[in-house]
Amino acid sequence: LSVIRVDLSNVEPGTQLTVQWLGKPVFIRHRTEEEVLAARDTDLDALPDPVARNANIDGTAPATDANRTVPGHEELLVMIGVCTHLGCVPLGDGAGDFGGWFCPCHGSHYDVSGRIRKGPAPENLAVPLLTYEEGGTLTLG
Ligand code: FES
Repeated sequence: LSVIRVDLSNVEPGTQLTVQWLGKPVFIRHRTEEEVLAARDTDLDALPDPVARNANIDGTAPATDANRTVPGHEELLVMIGVCTHLGCVPLGDGAGDFGGWFCPCHGSHYDVSGRIRKGPAPENLAVPLLTYEEGGTLTLG
């Protein structure tokens, strides 16, 4: 299926749901307020990849946290769970030096917005096409 719907009603703050979509894992992280604040308080000059990598917006948009989420749903971060180095699946739940995700294959650290911060991965984790519907349902694709 190229379009799937995911019920988010049981994804509590501080937890992550992983679903399979188009043969790849997709991470759906319900971030805490602290995580959102940390993501927004990031110096963009510190980002190795300055581009948002969000399929829902202009491909050249800067990698602010706002540009990686959807207005009104800023606590939710949805990303393809495939490391942009060589394709391993990063560990989540605050893993790595930047409180986000860590890829153990070659040591790439992603922050609470899924942006690469340290290690060999060249790009931020990709945000797929998505929409939120009334009642807490996410549609991918
Ligand atoms: Fe993730 Fe190499 S595949 S760091």
